[in-house]
Amino acid sequence: MKNRNGVVTPLKRAEAEVTAGGKGETVLADAKAMSVSFGNLEVVKQVDLSVRKGEVVAIIGPSGSGKSTFLRCFNYLQPPTSGTLTINGEVVVNAGKTPTNSDLLKLRRKIGMCFQSFNLFPHLTAVENIDLAQVSALGRSKRDARARSMELLKRVGLESKADTKPARCSGGQQQRIAIARALALDPEMMLFDEPTSALDPELGHEVLAVMRELANSGMTMIVVTHEMRFAENVADRIMFMADGKAVELGEPRQVLRSPVNERTQKFLSMVFDR
Ligand SMILES: Nc1ncnc2c1ncn2[C@@H]1O[C@H](COP(=O)(O)OP(=O)(O)O)[C@@H](O)[C@H]1O
Ligand SMILES: [Mg+2]
Repeated sequence: MKNRNGVVTPLKRAEAEVTAGGKGETVLADAKAMSVSFGNLEVVKQVDLSVRKGEVVAIIGPSGSGKSTFLRCFNYLQPPTSGTLTINGEVVVNAGKTPTNSDLLKLRRKIGMCFQSFNLFPHLTAVENIDLAQVSALGRSKRDARARSMELLKRVGLESKADTKPARCSGGQQQRIAIARALALDPEMMLFDEPTSALDPELGHEVLAVMRELANSGMTMIVVTHEMRFAENVADRIMFMADGKAVELGEPRQVLRSPVNERTQKFLSMVFDR
């Protein structure tokens, strides 16, 4: 995009890149001045994050910096102490106001989440784990739910495990089943909190492959991760958090290779010097 003199202005260039990258300019989720305190301890401090439709944002940072707590605000697993969250232009979380149960259900249907621990029901098979919420939360018929579950198992490469219980699946397979389960509610956005950190590298790799496919298909995602290569290759932007603050936010290469902030530099030098 050029102005009248044919000069690409920085803002216009950013817009052009956004469009070129296939991401819309529509903001899907907009967290404003989000803070969380536990007693006197403020662990998330006035964090802003605006995520466009189809965008992947990776959140990195040292342990205890508030990444999980901030992420959990997006589906109200963690009520913020102050701040607002807007989804598709509608305020869905407002720190001053407790949402009703039906608002919460609506929010959690829109925003799926996967954790480090997979939390699958041990007494149900893979496909039954995926069926469950479709019937209870969406009111889908058992037959429709099953068809969708099988489609999703295929998508994560685990059709053959449909009738297997979680304990007989590897950690990587369990996490892929958990991703399929979250996708079964047709979320508009997915949150991931260190989905591979409990896994051996090889098993982590197969989970990252599923997440990469999901990102390529246009899913809007926020991913808390220590997988720097994934963050660099898949994320559109990286946010670095330290001491509850969003210290740096930008294009992956810039944040990882030429971080502006001293705290980011220190963290990355420790990560890359291992
Ligand atoms: N439910 C809680 N009650 C009290 N303190 C908490 C709670 N959850 C998290 N914390 C504290 O908040 C800080 C940030 O935690 P967390 O968001 O889990 O960080 P990260 O995900 O970056 O490792 C830590 O000091 C942690 O001990
Ligand atoms: Mg965490």
